[in-house]
Amino acid sequence: MHTTIWAHRGSSHQYIENTLAAFKQAIDDGSDGIELDVQRTKDGKLVVIHDENLKRLTGDTGFVWEKTWKELQQLSLKPSKIVSASNKSIDTAIPSLEAVLQLMKETHLTVNIELKNSIQFYTGMEEEVWACVQSFGMADQVLFSSFNHQSMHHMSALAGVDRCAILTSDIHYEPWNYAEAIGVKSIHPALNSLQQRNLVQNCHEKGLKVHVWTADEEAHIYAGLLLEVDAIITNVPKKAIALKKQI
Ligand code: G3P
Ligand code: CA
Repeated sequence: MHTTIWAHRGSSHQYIENTLAAFKQAIDDGSDGIELDVQRTKDGKLVVIHDENLKRLTGDTGFVWEKTWKELQQLSLKPSKIVSASNKSIDTAIPSLEAVLQLMKETHLTVNIELKNSIQFYTGMEEEVWACVQSFGMADQVLFSSFNHQSMHHMSALAGVDRCAILTSDIHYEPWNYAEAIGVKSIHPALNSLQQRNLVQNCHEKGLKVHVWTADEEAHIYAGLLLEVDAIITNVPKKAIALKKQI
């Protein structure tokens, strides 16, 4: 069973998503990798946070790119209802990309860095993220992904086809042709894409890896395992790892 388990925004059902605590828990859970979301502040700091608008995660008004790093550090992330009650106030800080890379460098885990650059284009972000990864000597530990495929085309020229992936929400036809045109060797399809007949098998035959998101339900995790996807991206890595052991 070669399917790997990647913790989506860290172990985000136990700790607040995209926090150092959530990533540490993902390591402790035995995950093979983590997924994180990167954006950029007004003064150019790469930060790990999912939403462009700060309302849901912090209650603050405005957007990530309108705030300085200092201003973001003064905000507290709010736990979702799903975060374990005893962990709700343990880590409420928005981390920098550097802080997360520093943590992950000590591990052998894959770091799937999603560039959140579909709404705000964040010009030059690809170069900055790549430089940051290289400064930590982690080039062989990372994978870049984005819903912005133009961005991944650009990133692929910088970091190489093996380090880039396209994120998709819909079922798509013969993704290997599209992936080749963009210049990526991995696709990150939404869970519903697994309904497409022989998708994983065909992708593998074409040399394309399949990392599916986001599988939290037992049935969905099983589906990914049985289809032998290359990675299951999940908010509940501990559960996925336990199910994998049963197969
Ligand atoms: O990487 C898969 C997944 O993270 C993409 O969607 O909205 O959770 O960032 P989202
Ligand atoms: Ca993401």
